[in-house]
Amino acid sequence: MTAGTAALREAIAARLASARDRTSGLTDCVDDTDLVRQHSPLMSPLVWDLAHVANQEELWLLREVGGRDPMHPEIDPLYNAFEHPRAERPSLPLLPPAEARRYARDVRGRVLDLLDRVSFGGADLTRDGFVFGMIAQHEQQHDETMLATHQLRDGSPVLVAPPPGPPAPDVLRLPPEVLVPGGPFTMGTSTEPWALDNERPAHQVSVPAFYLDTTPVTNAAYAQFIADGGYDNPRWWTPAGWDHRQLAGLVAPQFWQRDGSGGWLRRRFGLLEPVPPAEPVLHVCWYEADAYARWAGRRLPTEAEWEKAARHDPATGRSLRYPWGDTDPTPDVANLGQRHLQPAPAGSYPAGAAPSGARQLIGDVWEWTASDFLPYPGFRAWPYREYSEVFFGPEYKVLRGGAFSADPVACRGTFRNWDYPIRRQIFAGFRTARDADLA
Ligand code: AVJ
Ligand code: FE
Repeated sequence: MTAGTAALREAIAARLASARDRTSGLTDCVDDTDLVRQHSPLMSPLVWDLAHVANQEELWLLREVGGRDPMHPEIDPLYNAFEHPRAERPSLPLLPPAEARRYARDVRGRVLDLLDRVSFGGADLTRDGFVFGMIAQHEQQHDETMLATHQLRDGSPVLVAPPPGPPAPDVLRLPPEVLVPGGPFTMGTSTEPWALDNERPAHQVSVPAFYLDTTPVTNAAYAQFIADGGYDNPRWWTPAGWDHRQLAGLVAPQFWQRDGSGGWLRRRFGLLEPVPPAEPVLHVCWYEADAYARWAGRRLPTEAEWEKAARHDPATGRSLRYPWGDTDPTPDVANLGQRHLQPAPAGSYPAGAAPSGARQLIGDVWEWTASDFLPYPGFRAWPYREYSEVFFGPEYKVLRGGAFSADPVACRGTFRNWDYPIRRQIFAGFRTARDADLA
């Protein structure tokens, strides 16, 4: 018990430290003017995310767990996401960059003191270190949001990372789709210690046999949809999707532009470059993904289909934590954690394949699913309604699998993300499916 507790303390400290390293990397690379500016009405100023992350850490760890008094009660409302929509955050009297950094450092220092004394046995909130894991995930989720702000930001590149490796040697021999067998499987979890409320509880779901794309849809395939007039034919779009396509003037993924000779360029973190044909398509909204799938004679997978493809092991009947098994992600199985600033070519990471043979279900690009964001049977809001419960309903679509921009601590076979079907600045792509009719 003592050794286990020491190991848990160390694991928590490491997760908190790597989240903070990433936050610092995303905020130290631009000047103060840039930190307080709003780069898009869809995003907060980076300095808001920085202090919000610290404020949530103070609220949950120092006040809730530690029983401490608020450090600066007057700033709480500024950093409450529900009081101020993103568009109005730049006009708030936010902590300036130096004060935001000092606040984050002060909170973290006190949290590390608390971590030395806390017990992980009794109360729900601290059991298995849950609330510390929740806060590490929260900071990483905001780091991903800050990365999207960087992608929207004008100006020359400030972020650097090596490109992912070359395509896997067997990529040309991969079957285009894999068969996922029909029958029940266990969806969600009741045992993953740091799973968030919307991933719980584990429950049986029956999913008929279906075929799923072996890899996410590539830029090359998506460019064919464009070249075939996919954006001009209402036949491929739902009525709401077509309305939005017209209203927003969609003609290609966000950040794409014509190269003047029939090809495509894209802007990626300040760099203009040819669109890599073999890479999974990125920055498409749900309506575009849905239209592409219909054009291809296919459909988006449901959320249950996606999770069955990612976790169900037909050999044992069990659900795995990840496509490759129960071990935590490592760099050889998935493109996660902003190690790269782009997805790897389709077919990469053979060592991360699911039992079905599907690749890249975890990492590279978030994958839009056909499903609305709804609670599982037996859902209980925990520890706060505003994480998931207030978002349940048909206006949000579920995304699965995480992207190069998601950290392993906030990405699992059961992890659920969600957004509006019009959103494109998130690091989202998709893959398609079809029924495996016996006929
Ligand atoms: C789960 C990514 C949709 O960023 O809106 C951050 C995560 N919740 N702070 C979001 C979250 C509260 C959330 N997503
Ligand atoms: Fe938040």
